[in-house]
Amino acid sequence: MQYTVDQTSFFVEDRGAGQPLLFVHGFPLNHSMWKAQLDFFESGYRVIAPDLRGFGSSKGAASVVTMQDYADDLAELLDEMKIHEPVTFCGLSMGGYIAWQFAERHPQRLSRLILSDTKATADPEAARLQRLELADRVEREGSDFFVDTMLKKIFAPATFSSQPELIDTFRKLIIETAPQAIAGASRGMAERPDFTERVGGITVPTLLLCGSDDALTPPDQMEQLADMMYRASFQLIPGAGHMAPVESPQAVNEAIARFLADSDM
Ligand code: MLT
Repeated sequence: MQYTVDQTSFFVEDRGAGQPLLFVHGFPLNHSMWKAQLDFFESGYRVIAPDLRGFGSSKGAASVVTMQDYADDLAELLDEMKIHEPVTFCGLSMGGYIAWQFAERHPQRLSRLILSDTKATADPEAARLQRLELADRVEREGSDFFVDTMLKKIFAPATFSSQPELIDTFRKLIIETAPQAIAGASRGMAERPDFTERVGGITVPTLLLCGSDDALTPPDQMEQLADMMYRASFQLIPGAGHMAPVESPQAVNEAIARFLADSDM
């Protein structure tokens, strides 16, 4: 379904009825990464999975899109969809960077947080520069050059042999992502603030999930993050990499279902 926010058309997968669960994808992906969660939770909840600005079938790519911009887009999109009750925000990696901003800028819209394979820190200088270089190169050459590197970063080594069709699906998805969206998000992530000191200010129930083989946002760091948060629990997803909800959907769905039941309001 398409919605127009600020003269920009956004694609949103919207199914089921009940308490709203908002699923926010990682970089450089789109809403389809949440398919297993949407299929599982649509019978008991309203599941909402947008394509972020410029990604998938959403328009509006810009040369820099900050995490604050994405968070504000989501709040406006919820307005446009006439969803006024607070949502459970479920974000993976970049979706988690956006979740911090959503929690701070739109606290009245948030009932619970689910953070998968993400972090609160900003990028060190070298990583920041790499993101800016990537953005420039993708704009010049398209995204083919970084697809294999990206796949190796986000999937556990074992997933390449155990689920080769999944790797092919995501290779295609990344190749089809608009270079402008990749560039805008890379520059936006490069300038994201360090949120570590502010996580203690989040008071909604929070679940942190992390694949045991996640090399980008390792489990020990997420566990420390849970300790710094007010009402957070941590769940390890054995055998998965950075894409835990995609690589181990059953374990992730069970963890989310338990968390939703325990924090039911
Ligand atoms: C993601 O999965 O969203 C990215 O790995 C985030 C990042 O590049 O920091």
